Order: sequence, then structure tokens, then C-alpha cells
Amino acid sequence: MRIGVLTAGGDAPGLNAAIRAIGLLALRDGHDVIGVANGWAGLAGEYAGSALGAADLRGIVAQGGTVLGTARHDLDTPTGGRERVLSVIDEHFDALVAIGGDGTQRISHWLAERGAPVVGVPKTLDNDLPETDYCIGFDTAINVVAESLDRLHTTAISHHRVMVVETMGRSTGWVAALGGLAGGADLIVIPEFPLNVEQIVEHLSQRRSAGLAYSVVVVAEGVTLAALGGVESANLGFDTLKGVRHATRGVGPFVAAKIEQCGGFEVRTTVLGHLQRGGSPTAHDRIYATRVGAAAYDAVVAGRFGTIPVVRGGEIHLAPLEAVAAHRRAVPRELYELCSVFF
Ligand code: F6P
Repeated sequence: MRIGVLTAGGDAPGLNAAIRAIGLLALRDGHDVIGVANGWAGLAGEYAGSALGAADLRGIVAQGGTVLGTARHDLDTPTGGRERVLSVIDEHFDALVAIGGDGTQRISHWLAERGAPVVGVPKTLDNDLPETDYCIGFDTAINVVAESLDRLHTTAISHHRVMVVETMGRSTGWVAALGGLAGGADLIVIPEFPLNVEQIVEHLSQRRSAGLAYSVVVVAEGVTLAALGGVESANLGFDTLKGVRHATRGVGPFVAAKIEQCGGFEVRTTVLGHLQRGGSPTAHDRIYATRVGAAAYDAVVAGRFGTIPVVRGGEIHLAPLEAVAAHRRAVPRELYELCSVFF
């Protein structure tokens, strides 16, 4: 078989472990492995596939990013090239493994519905794909958040300051909630359970009255300014998919300025940004990515196209791509309530 592999959307630590698993298993069984450069862009424009050998796949498990390259390429427009992608898959591959988040898997589903032999692999640092407990990159991101909060706590305590930390999480608060829980956050604000500025200041004032002059407040980038009691700026950056570039919305600096104005606290802000996505994957991300990569290869060999391996309760299952592409998985109330016990 000729098995194509691509990584699409934002990169994430652990992608190379998945590529390695798919590729080395396929080579072991005598198949050809074709790496597609730069995600869907490598199929929609000039075809950018090349054969991968064992030497390309060994020694990459600890590397962050993706050896294949990635891109945010919009196939959703009439000129985006979906039809061309269908014909390129037909011409070059017997199977294609698409590693990516919700946007990628929506395309995978569209292709599979039209008979293309596509299997997905769940990757998003935001960890909000439905059906799966984990996505590639999430564990590394929450380790970065936790370590950052540990560091920010020591300086916050010394200076009796409030530290506001903005994390990734375009639509959901998984990174903020679980990174914040692990790092002992003193308040976590996420899109699923937003607090307005008055509630945030009230909480910090109560802590101050209780003798806790410092606080570390974690805010997910996807919290709307309207929910916080502000107004969305018209002057936003947009990414290549015409989505709002969340870091440019300035949610962290907005919260920090309000806390300073309304609560009389001395505040500093840290926007963690792409530090959460860069660098070497944790052992958990390497192992998880290897397991879902291997399961994707098994699905290819078994002809189970239109599916995606997911992990639930530690076990790998195959879910239909349709279920994963349908919506985003929100942080459940009980998990947020557990986090809030420690505020
Ligand atoms: O979708 C994953 C994500 O990491 C979001 O948390 C973040 O808003 C976005 O990607 C950043 O994307 P880019 O690197 O294209 O600016």
C-alpha cells in the first residue's frame, strides 16, 4: 500500500511520535510511506509528497513541532481545493492519515464521505476534540503552564502582587483549567464558566483580607471581553483561516488592567502564547501519540476508513470521524468546581 501522512493546523509537541509510529509500522510491513509537506496545502496546490524511509523516521520522538511541516490552509472556500485534494489522494495514495484538530478532521470527514481512504489522528493543544480524553500536545502544554505558575508564584509572593497569566484555548478552557489546577492557580477564568471583572476583583479582595496578598490568576485566551464586562476591540488580528487571532484580543492584559484599576492591586501579566506549543513533548504525549499513531495504522490496514483512534479511560477505540468533527468538548462543571476548591 502507499500510505500518505500529513499534519495540518497548528503544530503540537508529540506529532513526530505519531508520524514515527505510523511510518515505522508501515515500513515494517512492507508498505510505502509518503510524507505530505505542510498539511492540506501540500495536496491542494502543487503536490508536495515524498517517500519516507526509516532514516527519516528514527530519532524524532523527542523533537517538538512536525518534521512534515504544517499550515493553516483553508479548504472550506470554493477555491480552497477540496476537489483537487480528492483527486490527488486518488492518484497518489491507497490510504491517507491526517493528523490534526477539529478543522482538519472536518476535512477528513468530508473526504471520507466521498470515498477517500482517510483515517484521522486527534491533535489539538486545546484538547477539545469530542470522543477523546486527550489530544496530542495537550499534556506538554499543561506542563508548561504548571511550571510557569510555579515560577510566577514565587515572585508574586515576594512582591505581594497579582500575576495574570493568559493561556491558549481558542474556544475552551482545558489548558487553563488543568494547567491551572496542576500549578495551584488562585483563580481560573475559562470560556465555559466566565467571571466578570467585578467577580474577579471580589475574589482577590477576599484573599487579601484573609492574609493572602498575592494571587496568580489564569485566564484562557478564548474568554470573551464581553463576558468579562468589556467590549470586543474592532482592531483584531486574523489568522489565515479568517479566525480571530486570540492572542491579539488581549484578554490577559485587559483583566490585569481592570484588576489594577478596580482593586488597587499591583499586577503583572504573562501571555504564555506559543511557549505552550513549542519544545520537546512530555513522555505522556510521546506515548499517547505513539498509541494513536499505531492504532491509525491498524485502522488503515483493516480498511476502517472514515475513523479516528481516540482514548477513553486509558483504552484506545476507533470513533467515526463524523462524531469528532461535529462539535467541541467543553470542560465539565464538576472539573471546574474541583479546580475552584483551591482558589
Ligand atoms: O488551535 C490551537 C491553538 O494553539 C490555539 O490555542 C491558539 O489560539 C492558536 O492555535 C494559535 O494559532 P497560530 O499559531 O496559528 O497563531
